[in-house]
Amino acid sequence: SQDNPWSGRFARGMSARLTAFNTSLPIEERLFECDVEGTRAHVSMLNAVGLLGDDEHRALQQALDEVLAEWRAGAIKLAPRLEDIHMNLEALLVDKVGQLGKKTHSARSRNDQQATAQRLYFRRSTRALIDAIHACQVELYAHCRRHADLIMPSYTHLQRAEFTHYAHWLATYVVMLERDRSRFEDALRRADECPLGGCASTGTSLGIDRELSARLLGFSRPTRSSIDAVSNRDYLLEFVNHAAILMITLSRLSEEIITFSSQEFGFLALDDALCTGSSIMPQKKNPDVLELVRGKSGVVVGNATSLLVICKALPLGYNKDLQEDKTAWFSALDNCMSSLALIGDVVQTMTPSAERMVAATRSGHILATEYANYLVKKGLPFRDAHRVVGGLVKRAEADGVDVAELPLAVLRDASALFDEDIRAMSVREVAAKKNSVGSCGDVALPALLQELGALLDDY
Ligand code: ARG
Repeated sequence: SQDNPWSGRFARGMSARLTAFNTSLPIEERLFECDVEGTRAHVSMLNAVGLLGDDEHRALQQALDEVLAEWRAGAIKLAPRLEDIHMNLEALLVDKVGQLGKKTHSARSRNDQQATAQRLYFRRSTRALIDAIHACQVELYAHCRRHADLIMPSYTHLQRAEFTHYAHWLATYVVMLERDRSRFEDALRRADECPLGGCASTGTSLGIDRELSARLLGFSRPTRSSIDAVSNRDYLLEFVNHAAILMITLSRLSEEIITFSSQEFGFLALDDALCTGSSIMPQKKNPDVLELVRGKSGVVVGNATSLLVICKALPLGYNKDLQEDKTAWFSALDNCMSSLALIGDVVQTMTPSAERMVAATRSGHILATEYANYLVKKGLPFRDAHRVVGGLVKRAEADGVDVAELPLAVLRDASALFDEDIRAMSVREVAAKKNSVGSCGDVALPALLQELGALLDDY
């Protein structure tokens, strides 16, 4: 077609195949409102520096209002022939105000226009993601509060290792998500500069005011280099990598809930509304949601890799490769948003089984470390205590009992330091005594929960 804005130097229009290949619609449709917002600021700045008259400015703002209203009403269909949202927007303005519509492109290129729309969308969507992480943390935290007093085993190598409180286990994910959230806050801070006015890449000889454009769009400053304005996708690289780390947090939680809700563990029951059945096995209730989150974490790790590889070795200035940034970015964003919401639903509705969890602490020699600590308190060096209790575990295994079930005489045979009081040792009491910072004790755990509560309230 010969009627797109750049066709002046061409003898023939784009082939149909190129048109289809080249267009960034519909992937970038979601940036349309941000492009209108960026255009509003640009037009205001052009007016402020005298490149647009007051009447022209008013007419363009009015036309932009109308376009936005029509867009929101679903009355606008973007034309792939016009390549992207930018040339579509310009055509829509020309429809409304005639030739004046073309003046919006003074001192602007699609390169800085795209970068600006992306930055605006980045700010908005990253804030929404931060909110979504917070909402998920709130669900986890509320669940911890509802089930503050359940004892469960804790695992290393997925072997029973020690014991803790259920709330300690889940509160750990609140802590992890806090780190994930802060990474996005960081990314927002660094992305807080406005590319508008970078133009094609070296700025413009027209007398624009980039400080004003930045201010109008709520950015702290213009990008330091106009070349960087159109070349930089670091903020998206940060985003997709932070997203990958976030999804890995969610994937680890998913994996644990899948494991704990298996019949073998039976620690957790999931809500029917969040499970699926089998087309052949009538008894099945499957945790598909969690498996999907685990799977999507792989997709997002892929998104991070894609964008890194797209940007690797790109020369400065704008290169069309950058058009592919949105596929990776939006996939990472959408997968994080949906996964956070579903994980929130799962956590809100899952039911822990106090009996199954506490029963699992009664075997696996889970008190063995505490037996060693008992001997340490009586003066034995830890390494020796470890060996003594290791011998008792070997004996217990041979007898087919838990180490805590061995007769006192057997314990005393191994070390005369064992006394009657060892019999009183219970998982719950020992758990209550673990009070160094961050542990599961009756002082430490409430302190952790209180700190997390304050952190979430502060938000
Ligand atoms: N659709 C492009 C993108 O997504 C627009 C940027 C500028 N296009 C251009 N041909 N210079 O990055």
